[in-house]
Amino acid sequence: MFAQDSLNSLSLEYAYADLQQATKNFDASCKVGEGAFGGVFKGLQRDGTEVAIKVLDVSEEGGFEEEVRVLSKFRHPNLVILMGFASHTHQRLLVYELLAGGDVYKRLQRSCREGVPFPWRQRVSAACDAACGLSHLHHSKPKVFHRDIKSANILLDRNGTAKMADFGLACLSHKTTHKVKSAGGTVGYTCPLYVQRGVVTEGSEAYSFGMVLLELFTAKLPAWRTQAPDGSQQYQFMVSVINGDLRTALSLEDEMAQWPTAVGTAVAELALMCTQNAEEKRAGFADIANVLRALRDTAEVPVAPALPTPVLGGSALVPGAPVQQVVVRREVVQQPQPQVQAQPQAVIQRVSAAEWEHARRQQQQQQQQQQHQQQQPHQQQAPRPPPLLWSLECTYADGINVSSLPREQRTLMHRHEQGGPLLTTQRVGRLFQEDFFNAVIPDSSMRGVVSREHFQVWAEETPIGTEQSTNLIPCSFFLTQFSSNRVTVNGAALQKPGEQTSLHRGDKIAIGRFVEGSEKYEPFIQFRFTLAGSVLMDADPGHADPEHTPGARKEDAPSYYLEAGGAGLREGVGKQSRRLVPEDTECTLMLGRVHNSEFWQRVLTEDAYNALSRHCCQIEMSDSSKRHTTYYVRNLSERNTICVCTSFDDGQAEPIGLNERIVVSDGNIIVVNRLLWISFNLTFSGPEQQQEAQVADHKMCGDPVEIEELS
Ligand SMILES: Nc1ncnc2c1ncn2[C@@H]1O[C@H](COP(=O)(O)OP(=O)(O)OP(=O)(O)O)[C@@H](O)[C@H]1O
Ligand SMILES: [Mg+2]
Repeated sequence: MFAQDSLNSLSLEYAYADLQQATKNFDASCKVGEGAFGGVFKGLQRDGTEVAIKVLDVSEEGGFEEEVRVLSKFRHPNLVILMGFASHTHQRLLVYELLAGGDVYKRLQRSCREGVPFPWRQRVSAACDAACGLSHLHHSKPKVFHRDIKSANILLDRNGTAKMADFGLACLSHKTTHKVKSAGGTVGYTCPLYVQRGVVTEGSEAYSFGMVLLELFTAKLPAWRTQAPDGSQQYQFMVSVINGDLRTALSLEDEMAQWPTAVGTAVAELALMCTQNAEEKRAGFADIANVLRALRDTAEVPVAPALPTPVLGGSALVPGAPVQQVVVRREVVQQPQPQVQAQPQAVIQRVSAAEWEHARRQQQQQQQQQQHQQQQPHQQQAPRPPPLLWSLECTYADGINVSSLPREQRTLMHRHEQGGPLLTTQRVGRLFQEDFFNAVIPDSSMRGVVSREHFQVWAEETPIGTEQSTNLIPCSFFLTQFSSNRVTVNGAALQKPGEQTSLHRGDKIAIGRFVEGSEKYEPFIQFRFTLAGSVLMDADPGHADPEHTPGARKEDAPSYYLEAGGAGLREGVGKQSRRLVPEDTECTLMLGRVHNSEFWQRVLTEDAYNALSRHCCQIEMSDSSKRHTTYYVRNLSERNTICVCTSFDDGQAEPIGLNERIVVSDGNIIVVNRLLWISFNLTFSGPEQQQEAQVADHKMCGDPVEIEELS
């Protein structure tokens, strides 16, 4: 238990009712984001002051007491001010000053995706401010480590001043190093030595900061997930791609920032210095702040002196030195481009120590491979692919588990052909994508459902006026039906060849199959039309990227959630904390120690966690429209006996065979083992879905079930 009385003397306690009022009872419209421990809401106090309220679901594990104790002591222009706290049942709430400029991670994302300017000087300024805040923490007595330095924890105020947020993981120490209980962190930012030794130092913090500098320079995440050929998830690391080579780092520069050559080079060099293996050679935060300040305050674009080789390891970095002394010349040579353009699943991954350890091993392997490749002279690197126009991602195929295919194999990417016109038509059918259809329809007798040319997707450039602040080309998109076998777009059928409809990001295109007996068309194969990574954008303002349109419904909003229960639950874990909400309901959600390890570690006792399979089961869906969504549980585990029950006294439920799946409906309980069950709950339960939930039964099936509508 934390000593609330003692906190009162340090920090102002707010009445929960006041915070409810300030946030319209924590209304979704006030939510500014969601972190590992809960949501963050914007609140307007009675006196007119705006605040940010962080709601922690976990009373003690959320680091509440620690955060209040540490933060309330600090007053620095580059550290987010904690104004007070509140408690309500199992919830703990922290009230912060509101920083209206968003966080640096989002600013970078908006810059690359929407072209919202985030020029180099603002980036350097934010980095300099953050370094000042961190330097202040490190120079305090006792010394304070942040332990979760990442771009998402650097917040900007209205004027562009940056402040470090989130001291939930911080720890006070009288020593230069501090042994920590668990090295949980965020993949890609956390220093491998810290994870290995569990010891946080100024050097490990410098490493994370170096990753933020690389992110600012390249607008690419420090790590991203890819799927290995065997279907398992693996991480790719920016540091492994760069491998300490300044020229490679420079080739990844984000052009949107318009880096002057000398400044960009200095930032990249500083980043490499912070992320080098030899911890003792990494810079301290006071030096980092001074170098960044000199760069930020550069009046004119500096001219780089001609130095023959990059200077790393500290000798080039003299705090306070004129910019010309801390940079090296960027040689204008044609470098092969490293393959980091596509960052699938480019979300910041916050993971447990166990998963980090796994990720770290992958990082080491990648570095070794890199070194090996460097020793092979004249080794050819793959050329950069031409710009992407749009993609059709296969989200369902009858009879196979498409999610087990690597994304590249299940996605039809339409790229610009070099030398040709930009907006060419994508023709889809067996004639054009033979390998793809062979892979997703293994049964050759069924392949004929897809015509040789089934449909076409095409685009027309559509200017959208003067206010456009992006490099993307605004277009209208269309689909034309070419087959006598119908195509549906979001459930609406195009029956005859020649029929045409407009397309927007996220639309679902399904090829149907007429099933005799049921006298119905059933979805046979389904795609999602996506503009992710494209040089084009939807010209229709109503279909702009929902993630960046205030108030717009997020396309990937969850339509179900899972709730863990059973004897294996840790004591005191609140209902909210036991919920697992899929990030993307269009995709299969895999469950197991490998896939959601942080969640399971937080929720389950050690015994129950160990009893859970690494790959336990997965939730799949098939649909041609929301009306006909059917969900399934597929058993992936030999060790856990998975069955689905309608109620707790349903003793009849048959275990699901390995790799088999079964329909799961609203309120059903997925029993994993004697220590754990998981309830399945629909969230967008419109009338049709409720009907579906009633109708769908538990029969074993390999195909999606077309649900009869109740009259
Ligand atoms: N004081 C604040 N003012 C304005 N926005 C804030 C404030 N604090 C947090 N946010 C926003 O709320 C969102 C969630 O923040 P939160 O710290 O909970 O998660 P995170 O930093 O993304 O991840 P983690 O849980 O690992 O720290 C972020 O997008 C952040 O920009
Ligand atoms: Mg945060």
